[in-house]
Amino acid sequence: MEPSQLTPKDRGKWAASNAALAYIKDGMTLGLGTGSTADIFIQQLAGHVQSEGISITCVATSNRSTQLAKSLGLNVADFSAVEKIDLCVDGADLVDAKKRLIKGYGGACTREKIVEYSSGKLLIIADDSKRAAVLSGAVPVEFLPFAGRVVESGLRKLGAKKMELRTIAEGRPSMTDNGFWIVNADFGKIANPLKLEEAINNIDGVLENGLFARRPADIVIFGSSNGKVQKK
Ligand code: A5P
Repeated sequence: MEPSQLTPKDRGKWAASNAALAYIKDGMTLGLGTGSTADIFIQQLAGHVQSEGISITCVATSNRSTQLAKSLGLNVADFSAVEKIDLCVDGADLVDAKKRLIKGYGGACTREKIVEYSSGKLLIIADDSKRAAVLSGAVPVEFLPFAGRVVESGLRKLGAKKMELRTIAEGRPSMTDNGFWIVNADFGKIANPLKLEEAINNIDGVLENGLFARRPADIVIFGSSNGKVQKK
């Protein structure tokens, strides 16, 4: 899709994604994120690989991104089959001044974190609405359904004010690629994202959460609806 056909928000995503193509080098192993911004990037990437005649290996962070990348002819390998990932490109739900992130509103925070924390570099692409002075609001927490009650009480002890199970049609819980459920736990303003990231993961039954503070992004590219980008 051309930028002129996009909504203002999507133009920002498109601009940031387009700027990320400058980081793609022949021969690299590239992590692919998940979400609407990552979808735009994967589409642009497929065109770039063809037009530049370069060869890259991709590792995707969800079944959705795997399918999209494969359908566009990109070479997608299993995470366990690659030795290292040079760069990972993904979107985010919120980015603070220290490039710490909240991710996972698209339901894929666990695989994203595993791939991104082990990548040489993490490049986040986002429209301007994702900027925040301080991380706040809902943090996605992926958990074992069996442990729901323990997880809820653990999150409350850590200060969660509101919790909402991620659902699909008819209020049924949405199942992640890993067979788990996600609860969005709202902590208000998060004073210490690193401490909270670790504390949530210490609750029995929690697989992972969407705070990315232990390893902030290396580069963030924000895109505006007027097509301008800002790198941080
Ligand atoms: C996927 O679970 C998420 O971490 C996404 O990276 C994040 O939610 C950003 O998604 P959008 O690009 O759709 O805003």
